Amino acid sequence: MVNVAALVPLKLFRGVIAMELGLERKVAIVTGGSKGIGRATALGLLNEGASVLVCARGRAALDETVTAAGDGARDRIDALAADLTDPVAIKSVVASCIDRFGQIDILVNNAGSARTGEFLNLSDNAWLEDWTLKFFGYVRMAREVLPHMQRRRTGVIVNIIGAAALNPRGSYTIGGAANAALNHFTKALADESAQSGVRVVGINPGPILTERLLKMRAGLAPSSKDQPDDEALRRMTPLGRVGKAEEVADLVLFLASARAAFIHGANITIDGGTTRGLMG
Ligand SMILES: NC(=O)c1ccc[n+]([C@@H]2O[C@H](COP(=O)([O-])OP(=O)(O)OC[C@H]3O[C@@H](n4cnc5c(N)ncnc54)[C@H](OP(=O)(O)O)[C@@H]3O)[C@@H](O)[C@H]2O)c1
Repeated sequence: MVNVAALVPLKLFRGVIAMELGLERKVAIVTGGSKGIGRATALGLLNEGASVLVCARGRAALDETVTAAGDGARDRIDALAADLTDPVAIKSVVASCIDRFGQIDILVNNAGSARTGEFLNLSDNAWLEDWTLKFFGYVRMAREVLPHMQRRRTGVIVNIIGAAALNPRGSYTIGGAANAALNHFTKALADESAQSGVRVVGINPGPILTERLLKMRAGLAPSSKDQPDDEALRRMTPLGRVGKAEEVADLVLFLASARAAFIHGANITIDGGTTRGLMG
């Protein structure tokens, strides 16, 4: 008879059944790791025993993230100021991670933003600027990291994309189209990297309460002086609330772990039920 217990290894920890992620001693790069989803992901990875390099432009928020990591993780976190619209900066982030930690097991492509606005008011420059970060930033970072992962025949790339990919809106053409392209890129790169032992997955968050969400909502309602009130936030998803950065981080941790070893080339939606289509 099959021993089911042996097939489903569970660890009893302080009275609850814990799922062991096995992220200790892994090394991760989290782009845009100084705020929002990126910071929550970096702190989550550190909490699991991984070493993490976070990068973003602003020094102050990077320093706050290092402080939030606490003394116990001080020797496992590095925080680099870098503008990822610059291909040279991308190369130096990857080189710094190898210098400091010797390897890269996990890449979380997260730094991104794209403006809202009426289509006819969006210039070529607006499209190019936003795609340079949200699309090319992800592509370039993956191209830089992949050879290191391929050499060791192990690694996971997690692209934080956005549910706008699946829910086209006239007021968000630049970001929605970049997200759709990144959903495609995730699958295509997964196809390309499968033989070398590197997994690639994407996450499509819906509204998650971060600085970015508050700024975007303010931009969509230019007549309103205020940030969205609680009622407006409640109306954004069928669950009656927006998501938390930590909820996306939990999904990243799972997908980056060996527990998700068979999830490859998938784009997973985390949006409180907002996407009603059958894809996502
Ligand atoms: N929050 C949501 O509702 C939501 C929904 C769907 C998708 N997403 C996606 O999730 C990701 C994270 O969003 P978030 O809400 O956590 O954003 P956030 O709170 O605004 O944080 C963005 C992070 O990216 C960094 N960043 C921005 N521009 C950068 C650049 N040029 N070079 C390097 N770093 C840069 C920021 O730091 P600096 O500004 O100091 O550089 C910050 O660390 C984004 O890709 C976003 O599109 C978010």
